[in-house]
Amino acid sequence: MKLIVIITFIYLCSADGVFQNSSHICDTCNCHETENEFILNCVDKRFTHVLADWPHHNKSLIADFSYNNISTLEKLPTSNYSVRLMFDHCNIKSLEPGILVNVVKVELLDLSYNLLTTEKIDGIDFKGPYVKEKYFPTALKHLNLAYNLIHTLPEKLFESMPHLEDLNLAGNGFSVLDFNSQHALSSLSKLKRLNLSNNGLTELVGDAVRNLTDLEELDLSYNKLDFVPNTLDYLKKNLKVLDLSNNPIYKLNDKSFLGK
Ligand SMILES: *[C@@H]1O[C@H](CO)[C@@H](O)[C@H](O)[C@H]1NC(C)=O
Ligand SMILES: *[C@@H]1O[C@H](CO)[C@@H](O)[C@H](O)[C@H]1NC(C)=O
Ligand SMILES: *[C@@H]1O[C@H](CO)[C@@H](O)[C@H](O)[C@H]1NC(C)=O
Ligand SMILES: *[C@@H]1O[C@H](CO)[C@@H](O)[C@H](O)[C@H]1NC(C)=O
Ligand SMILES: *[C@@H]1O[C@H](CO)[C@@H](O)[C@H](O)[C@H]1NC(C)=O
Ligand SMILES: *[C@@H]1O[C@H](CO)[C@@H](O)[C@H](O)[C@H]1NC(C)=O
Repeated sequence: MKLIVIITFIYLCSADGVFQNSSHICDTCNCHETENEFILNCVDKRFTHVLADWPHHNKSLIADFSYNNISTLEKLPTSNYSVRLMFDHCNIKSLEPGILVNVVKVELLDLSYNLLTTEKIDGIDFKGPYVKEKYFPTALKHLNLAYNLIHTLPEKLFESMPHLEDLNLAGNGFSVLDFNSQHALSSLSKLKRLNLSNNGLTELVGDAVRNLTDLEELDLSYNKLDFVPNTLDYLKKNLKVLDLSNNPIYKLNDKSFLGK
């Protein structure tokens, strides 16, 4: 008899512990709707897990969980609508593989100001929906990993993100873009905005940017570049905004600004 009680107790505990109780979530968080969006504001609610379910929504969902305390980000609940997710300042240390598999139309994921390291991020963490025994790429367009503890990128980090247009890697301590990082970045053929600000980069290796032919905006401010990288030549077709401020650049030559 005692044994059964204990087992039942443990079962309930773990069933409750996995997800944040989400019934009546709009009593705990702030929910409001505009014509095209359902906005769920759960900023600073001391959540330690993701929700078990989204509140009912029949339009685009914006879910803001900034300033919670979620050490492992778990699989997010199912939505068939376009979804933008903010999990910045959440003390996130690791990701459950497939966090995005149930948010088929996820557009934006903000994971800035967390504690993610290179070892804790991987391509499989971001894989897309599972249909007919196969994983599809995620629809993700905007990924913010700024101000984490990432020093190099896993080679296959972006393999499930072929639609990525906007990547923020500011404030992570990339002093060089090593072979794996170069390889990861070269898979982002649709990338339009790349933010490498505040990283201590001393050069911009050509192989890191050679494939970024659609890039329109590049932020290299607050690094340690002491010359204008001539590898920017690879980007001259579409680059519109280049921020090189706050680098110890001492010499400009006639090639410095892409011949423009
Ligand atoms: C979830 O919260 C609701 C009230 O907000 C409560 O009635 C319900 O019992 C809770 N469920 C669990 C499993 O704790
Ligand atoms: C969307 O859901 C709301 C209730 O949340 C409902 O009033 C409305 O009729 C629904 N709209 C459509 C198009 O289904
Ligand atoms: C956040 O959660 C961790 C355990 O996961 C705990 O040790 C820490 O005290 C929590 N921090 C805050 C500010 O609640
Ligand atoms: C999402 O769409 C699938 C297939 O169209 C459907 O089976 C599922 O119930 C939908 N989920 C939600 C939460 O609406
Ligand atoms: C770079 O782009 C070329 C041509 O689009 C492609 O064949 C190659 O696989 C890309 N490199 C990487 C590492 O994805
Ligand atoms: C790059 O990221 C930093 C930190 O998030 C931000 O302050 C800066 O405005 C970003 N640059 C651009 C061009 O968006």
